Amino acid sequence: MAKIKTKIGNDYCPQALFLYGTKQEDGQPHFGLFCWLGYYDSSEGLGVMACIGEEKQTKDLIRKNGVFSANLVSEQLLPLADYYGCTYGRTTPDKMKRLPTVEWGEVLDVPIISESPVSFELEVKKEIPMGDGSDIFLCLIRNVTQDEKLSDTKLPFAERFMKAAPVLTPGEDTYFSIDGRYLGKWGEPMKNLTNIPR
Ligand SMILES: Cc1cc2nc3c(=O)[nH]c(=O)nc-3n(C[C@H](O)[C@H](O)[C@H](O)COP(=O)(O)O)c2cc1C
Repeated sequence: MAKIKTKIGNDYCPQALFLYGTKQEDGQPHFGLFCWLGYYDSSEGLGVMACIGEEKQTKDLIRKNGVFSANLVSEQLLPLADYYGCTYGRTTPDKMKRLPTVEWGEVLDVPIISESPVSFELEVKKEIPMGDGSDIFLCLIRNVTQDEKLSDTKLPFAERFMKAAPVLTPGEDTYFSIDGRYLGKWGEPMKNLTNIPR
């Protein structure tokens, strides 16, 4: 295989998408779309590393509450997720006019998306400021809930994985399914939503 030098980036290294759920001061849920999520292991259990760039409402609320949820984005959720990712909460007060079905965490006081196949309830353990506006939140996974269909171990894992239908963002601002179908560019799936607040 001939390899050539390329720009620094993570194209072809697919990342799954998550909607981070936080509780606003008035008790209402808030959601933003995120891909910079990885995992770490610790003596306390499995943790999540979440990198949040410039200042935004999601970061304000994570700092204030110290807890949030991460809800895996499925193909069904993509139009709404794309809208949450392309709409800046701080300057769009009615961003949350469009909501999924919301339930509240079993362990932490965080909004959970019923339509999401897998949801993590996360407790922030440490915030690492990178000094350029970007911050990394190290969080312990305090609870996981998943679609009951994914617990049917009579079905092979590959089949359950396809049922979860996570959406990937492998590079060049695109969305793909796990079986390689192109699902659009960032900002496109939201056009299929009706009743988007303007
Ligand atoms: C596909 C996609 C992935 C994103 N991933 C991240 C991310 O990992 N970190 C981040 O800081 N912003 C990310 N964003 C941008 C946020 O979703 C965006 O800033 C949004 O406004 C956050 O919601 P909020 O303003 O209501 O907090 C992503 C956007 C898209 C479309």
